[in-house]
Amino acid sequence: MSNRMWGGRFASGPAEIMEEINASIGFDKRLAPQDIRGSLAHVAMLGQAGILPAADVAAIQDGLKAVRDEIEAGGFVFKRELEDIHMSIESRLTEIVGPAAGRLHTARSRNDQVATDMKLWVRDTLDGLDIQAAGLQRALAEKALAHAGTVMPGFTHLQSAQPVTFGHHCLAYVEMLARDRGRFRDARARLNECPLGAAALAGTSFPIDRHATAAALGFDRPTANSLDSVADRDFALESLAAASICAVHLSRFAEELVVWTSAQFDFVRLSDGYTTGSSIMPQKRNPDAAELVRAKSGRVIGALTGLLVVMKGLPLAYSKDMQEDKEGTFDALQALSLCLAAMTGMVRDLEPNAPVLARAAGSGYATATDLADWLVRELGLPFREAHHVTGRLVGTASARSVGLEELTLDEMQAAEPRITDAVYAVLGVENSVSSRTSYGGTAPDNVRAQATRWLEQLGKDA
Ligand code: ARG
Repeated sequence: MSNRMWGGRFASGPAEIMEEINASIGFDKRLAPQDIRGSLAHVAMLGQAGILPAADVAAIQDGLKAVRDEIEAGGFVFKRELEDIHMSIESRLTEIVGPAAGRLHTARSRNDQVATDMKLWVRDTLDGLDIQAAGLQRALAEKALAHAGTVMPGFTHLQSAQPVTFGHHCLAYVEMLARDRGRFRDARARLNECPLGAAALAGTSFPIDRHATAAALGFDRPTANSLDSVADRDFALESLAAASICAVHLSRFAEELVVWTSAQFDFVRLSDGYTTGSSIMPQKRNPDAAELVRAKSGRVIGALTGLLVVMKGLPLAYSKDMQEDKEGTFDALQALSLCLAAMTGMVRDLEPNAPVLARAAGSGYATATDLADWLVRELGLPFREAHHVTGRLVGTASARSVGLEELTLDEMQAAEPRITDAVYAVLGVENSVSSRTSYGGTAPDNVRAQATRWLEQLGKDA
């Protein structure tokens, strides 16, 4: 049997494999709420514009709501021969309403319909991701405030560089998430034009009111070019790009958690709620959630790459290739949502191991820069020369396997005779961090002020 929706010119139905490769219902059924929202707006507009009689409009509206109820209740049967969500809903609507249902598709096409549905889905999802990212920022800012003065080693090249505070490290991720949220909002603002009414590609001869449908669906305005309306998937690409960057941020933090929870580092403790045991090694507490957050960034980046490749060779306007936008977009944005939730839980529960962090903060000659700065400040040495003198002192200390603070004054003066015992004050890590008062620096007072500012701002956002 040929297709009930478009089979007029076909004598027979599709081959089994054709049906399998063609059908999207397996994954686009999740667009049912958006599809029905779009159809309700479209049919109301058709009525207002005098294109459909009021009785048909009412019947179609009631029918669409009945279909929505069936889908929500789980009683709707999705059939592969109906290809996609658009035809599945229209087919069921026809069973409920009769021939009047056939008037719903006046002045539209599945091409503008699917573009509208996807935009609505992506828009809702971006809004949810923004709220989740704000939640993670809040959890991080709270940790930052609690640990504004907890010292830890700061790294470059994963080598001990200078002491920082745990709170400062947390706030670095708050800043990254702020940029992520900015990208989500930018993507949302740019996508918020309604393709509905572009029809197949050229617009329509019916006197439709695209401004009305755009407004009814919460869009800022209708899209201005009908070809672009149905050929555009920038909104999905842009959202996936923003999601990829966010996923990379989460992956970097996850990597740190994996390293930090190892016995060799022992910098933080994750809660039982976010770790797992081993079936053979009883001592294990594995950071699986962090590892999976790190791994899932791969899916998100993969979805972006996949869709870029799908789109790159497509002539205007719609091609069926574009049906491949869905699975990757759904999967990637859903994966990011799960990662944000898992990270928020992990951050809320985690406890830094302050004594271990303090010890590590002082090792690796992490206060060498403080010594060089002291030579500049107190003895007036040019920084380059101070760097050199400090390097010699690090060499002496390293040869004896001691810290800089354990060098005798004689050893110090062998490198620079004018050094006095006042130098020892800057060699402590507490001193080091509290001296970093430049704007954006790690001094506990700065960290406290920044964390407080963020918590206030996030309170206002909510
Ligand atoms: N299932 C299709 C998709 O997801 C809907 C649009 C189909 N349009 C068409 N002309 N065959 O892209």
